[in-house]
Amino acid sequence: MDDQAVAQRVLDHITNGTTDLGDQVWQEPVANYRDPARLQAELERVLRRCPTPFCPSAALPEVGSFVAREAAGVPLVAVRGADGDVRAYRNACRHRGMQVATGSGCTRAFTCRYHGWTYNLEGKLRHIPHEAGFPGFDKEAHPLVPVTASERMGLVFVTQDAPDIDGDPLGGLDRLLAPDQRLFAASERDFEVNWKILLESFIEGYHIKTTHPESFLPYGFDNLNVIDLFGRNSRVTYPFKRIRKLATVPPPERRVDGLLTYVYHLFPNVLITVLSRHTNVVALEPLAIDRTRQFTYTLTNGGGDDPEALAEARRDAEFVGNTGALEDRAVVQAIQRGLASGANDHFTFGRYESAIVHFHQTLAATLG
Ligand code: FES
Ligand SMILES: [Fe+2]
Repeated sequence: MDDQAVAQRVLDHITNGTTDLGDQVWQEPVANYRDPARLQAELERVLRRCPTPFCPSAALPEVGSFVAREAAGVPLVAVRGADGDVRAYRNACRHRGMQVATGSGCTRAFTCRYHGWTYNLEGKLRHIPHEAGFPGFDKEAHPLVPVTASERMGLVFVTQDAPDIDGDPLGGLDRLLAPDQRLFAASERDFEVNWKILLESFIEGYHIKTTHPESFLPYGFDNLNVIDLFGRNSRVTYPFKRIRKLATVPPPERRVDGLLTYVYHLFPNVLITVLSRHTNVVALEPLAIDRTRQFTYTLTNGGGDDPEALAEARRDAEFVGNTGALEDRAVVQAIQRGLASGANDHFTFGRYESAIVHFHQTLAATLG
């Protein structure tokens, strides 16, 4: 999966008029996008049991930095502790269940805004106002309830329930996000679409010519992708036309920065899009069988605190967010509305759509 190998595969496809092809065609029952019982199984057996990227490490830059959001329907909060380690908790007060944190920020402690019970960054219950009203109450036995958290490759992973999958959730990937990438935007947005339909729109380039004729096609190719599968995950490479200039560069000296877009799908519900000057970490959180909240964390591609790197990343992010992404949104929401047509009892994913085939195969296997 190294850049030089990808560059060579792209150049070969350009020369030959080819693209990467998967082994097989897959038929996914439409019922799997419409059945609430299926979504419940996906939440309980997959999204809550897999180590899942929660936010980039860059969203927790210092001691006390926290991010609170729902993951697989469960409110969680991740925070960087005094020792520098990231911890994550179920975001519910041990008094009467109020959420102890909202949004993101930096704090020295979590104080519940209902009655003021206060927890330190390690989750210990430190203070109960008018404590005399709770005779015999064991503060030690009522910390914030932890979930498993770890940091790998610039991502904070959480696992809510006992994992049924062992091994490296990154499938052996040796780099992803770097410490000099800075978070400069975070947003959330709801879509009237099943989370898997939204996911599928990110990980195939078969639709570029027809869906993105004026936004992406002028810079890219029609149906020319390199697709790598690693563990439960995949990466789809979308080359730009300007990558052609690498043909005259000796292979060991080829640099792909700015010449292609990598889209990583980290199973089950996270996408990392590495564009020319910025990177999005996107988590797709199912709210209902036909509604999804998309959390997007936007980072520079490096440069630390350099203002010019930040300004370039902002410009790049604005362009992509205002063009191609809108076209994809229109399509996925139309597909969702069309499910009710009853025209299809299955959808067919072809050999150009092999990252999606891998996703559905992995999902089916994980569901058991
Ligand atoms: S619910 Fe949190 S202090 Fe009462
Ligand atoms: Fe698209």
